[in-house]
Amino acid sequence: MKNEELIREAIEARHASYAPYSGFKVGAALLNKDGRVIRGCNVENASYGLSNCAERTAVFKAVSEGLRDFVAIAIVGGREEGDQTSEYAYPCGACRQVLREFTIPEAFRVIIARSVTDYEEYTLEELLPHSFGPKNL
Ligand code: THU
Repeated sequence: MKNEELIREAIEARHASYAPYSGFKVGAALLNKDGRVIRGCNVENASYGLSNCAERTAVFKAVSEGLRDFVAIAIVGGREEGDQTSEYAYPCGACRQVLREFTIPEAFRVIIARSVTDYEEYTLEELLPHSFGPKNL
């Protein structure tokens, strides 16, 4: 799947974001090795600390559906309405660690986009170097 297509999925996912407290709406699209795409959005709560990020929503949805072979994720986040944002929404540390559990950090691609055509791409290894993972146990 092309990066642009995965970003489009993340933009669509962002439309479902529930972020009445922060106003910061995030969408994520997780690509599985078999070509399936699992969407996630952030889901906030009146008890603020219970809020869940878009990336972890996508991972937990996927794993609970039996998918664990992730190859890439696209992330789009910001305060703006519509399909463009003014900033790159880098994944938080908790989400990087959760992604690390089910990926090969050197191969897994993290695409952080402001629009379908404006994006940065990193490996998870670049965003979470020297990480602790399942093979350490
Ligand atoms: N958020 C995400 O969904 N992903 C991230 O990686 C960073 C933060 C959400 C959580 C919260 O709903 C809002 O953005 C502001 O922190």
